[in-house]
Amino acid sequence: KDHLRAEGGHLTIDGVDVVDLAEEFGTPLYVTSEARLRANARAYREAFPEALIYFAVKANGNLALLRILAEEGLGADVFSAGELSLVRMAGIPGEKVLFNGNSKRTEELKMALEAGVRISADSLDELLALAEVAKEMGEEAEVAFRVNPDVSAKTHPKIATGLKTSKFGIPWQDLVEVYERAMGLEGVKPVGLHCHIGSQILDTAPFVEAAARMMELAGRIVEVGGKIEMMDFGGGLGIPYTPETAAPTPSQLASGIKPVFEEGCRRLGISPRMILEPGRSIVADSTIFLTRVNVVKRAHVNFVGVDAGFNLLARPMLYDAYHHVVVANKADGRAEERYTVVGPICESGDVLAKDRNLPRIERGDLIAMLDAGAYGFSMASVYNGQPRCPEVLVGGGRAELIRRGEDQSVLLSGQVVPARLLK
Ligand code: LLP
Repeated sequence: KDHLRAEGGHLTIDGVDVVDLAEEFGTPLYVTSEARLRANARAYREAFPEALIYFAVKANGNLALLRILAEEGLGADVFSAGELSLVRMAGIPGEKVLFNGNSKRTEELKMALEAGVRISADSLDELLALAEVAKEMGEEAEVAFRVNPDVSAKTHPKIATGLKTSKFGIPWQDLVEVYERAMGLEGVKPVGLHCHIGSQILDTAPFVEAAARMMELAGRIVEVGGKIEMMDFGGGLGIPYTPETAAPTPSQLASGIKPVFEEGCRRLGISPRMILEPGRSIVADSTIFLTRVNVVKRAHVNFVGVDAGFNLLARPMLYDAYHHVVVANKADGRAEERYTVVGPICESGDVLAKDRNLPRIERGDLIAMLDAGAYGFSMASVYNGQPRCPEVLVGGGRAELIRRGEDQSVLLSGQVVPARLLK
């Protein structure tokens, strides 16, 4: 990772000493490399010059980062009204947004229509509701259909989304029937297909399999007189969290799915726009998470207690995810001891990193968890009365605050104590 280096014993991000950042902004702290984020976005744009790349906002909803991605020409996949308002605020135009979701509220459908964004319908029930809402508003909703392609991809079961047992999408066997139904329905205009088979997938084969199934379905839709203007193959490309992992690049993904797409389009005589919705592979490795050592406890194992846990980085707890650990103020140090890094949350599962060989650690040391940009801050909570931390952007050789840390007032926010309890 060329944005991260060890210089003079300290970890640096794009040349900026992270030990200084921790001093200046405090810990815990998320720090993002603007250069890395832009490079990741460009890698997609170059691998898929003719496609639209929609950043999956659930991975990271920071406005400054969304602005950067908007500048790089990306659109957005949003999964809620809240995510839609974020991307609108970031200046991403409505025509470059797809509103996804398996259980949308009526207000969300309305908001999507008002914003002029396409909607991906996840069920027949939702299609019918959308048609009603659109008719009431005197609009015609452009709608794509989330297909459940029943493709198995090797990843953590909680983030596999394309199996027939998953809650997402319309079973592929039912798709043509639903599409035909939509074709005859007032208030909606069916424009294409959408799928997503899972996240953190390290092999291109399942993407190719899903693309083939999608093109086969497109063919059946064309046969019944349907039009296909867009084909969205989802996100899901994994990243190498461990030093031993190899992950496909966007251009390897392109070599896998483009031939299937292009051949299918030629055969069917259609020219839809290809769309991809990457989240993790755009933002994960741009960002590190810094946390300070409060205690070292030599017990059954050597525990390193730091000032953040699954309240701010939930992935290890939720998915047994690995995030590489660097002792940022001993970045040149030789691994001498085995440690388990734990947070301050009152649960035994609050472990950030297990059994890592690291330089000797003491109170005050600074721990960097790498690849924390995707599903890091965006999944943070205030559990155990822990306000959320700040975020910083490193660009052009300097660091700027892009989210203020919360103070304890966030814990009171919105709470109402009935007067009778205030006696
Ligand atoms: N599009 C749809 C419809 C999705 O459901 C997702 C992710 C994406 C795009 C983006 O996928 P990506 O390129 O980031 O893999 N919190 C979990 C990941 C959940 C992913 C859910 N859907 C984690 O931290 O691993």
